[in-house]
Amino acid sequence: MEKGRLIRMAKVNIIYWSGTGNTAAMAAAIAEGAKEAGAEAELITAETASADDVRDAKAIALGCPSMGAEQLEETIMEPLMEELDGAISGKTVVLFGSYGWGSGDWMRDWEDRVSSDGAQVWNGEGIMLITHRMMRRSMPARQQDVTSQV
Ligand SMILES: Cc1cc2nc3c(=O)[nH]c(=O)nc-3n(C[C@H](O)[C@H](O)[C@H](O)COP(=O)(O)O)c2cc1C
Repeated sequence: MEKGRLIRMAKVNIIYWSGTGNTAAMAAAIAEGAKEAGAEAELITAETASADDVRDAKAIALGCPSMGAEQLEETIMEPLMEELDGAISGKTVVLFGSYGWGSGDWMRDWEDRVSSDGAQVWNGEGIMLITHRMMRRSMPARQQDVTSQV
C-alpha cells in the first residue's frame, strides 16, 4: 500500500503505554504525522483504553516499550492486549515502541501475536526506536524519523 494512504482514509486511534516518555514521544510524532497527512488522530493512554477504542477506529496504532525481559509492560499493557486480542481481527495495526538494550524480540513477538489475532501489521513490521539514539537526537529529528515512516 502507498505510504500514508491508510491514514489519509481513516481515523487513527493511537493507544500507548509509556513509563518515562520515550514511547509517548513516538505516539505524539505519529499523531502529528497522521494529522499532517489529513487523518483524524486521537492519543489514548493504555490506562484509559478499552476494546471500544479499537472497534471505533478503522486504523489503530499500539505503542509499548520493551519491558520485563523483552516483554510488553505487564500491569497495564499486557492486560489491555489480552482484551484487544479479541477485537483487532481485520484491523490494520501500527505497532511502535522504544527499547534500550535488547534485540527487539518484544516487537517481533508482538507482531506475531497481532497477526495471529487476525490483524494486519502496517508496513509488515513495528516501528522501534532505541533509547540512546533517541536521546542523541533533537525532538524535530526524532519526529521526522517516525513520521517519515507513516
Ligand atoms: C523495568 C524495565 C525493563 C526493561 N526491559 C527492557 C528489555 O527487556 N529490553 C530492552 O531493550 N529494553 C528494556 N528496558 C528499557 C526500555 O525499553 C527503554 O528505557 C524505553 O525507552 C522505555 O520507554 P518509555 O520511556 O516509553 O517508558 C527496560 C526498562 C525498564 C524500566
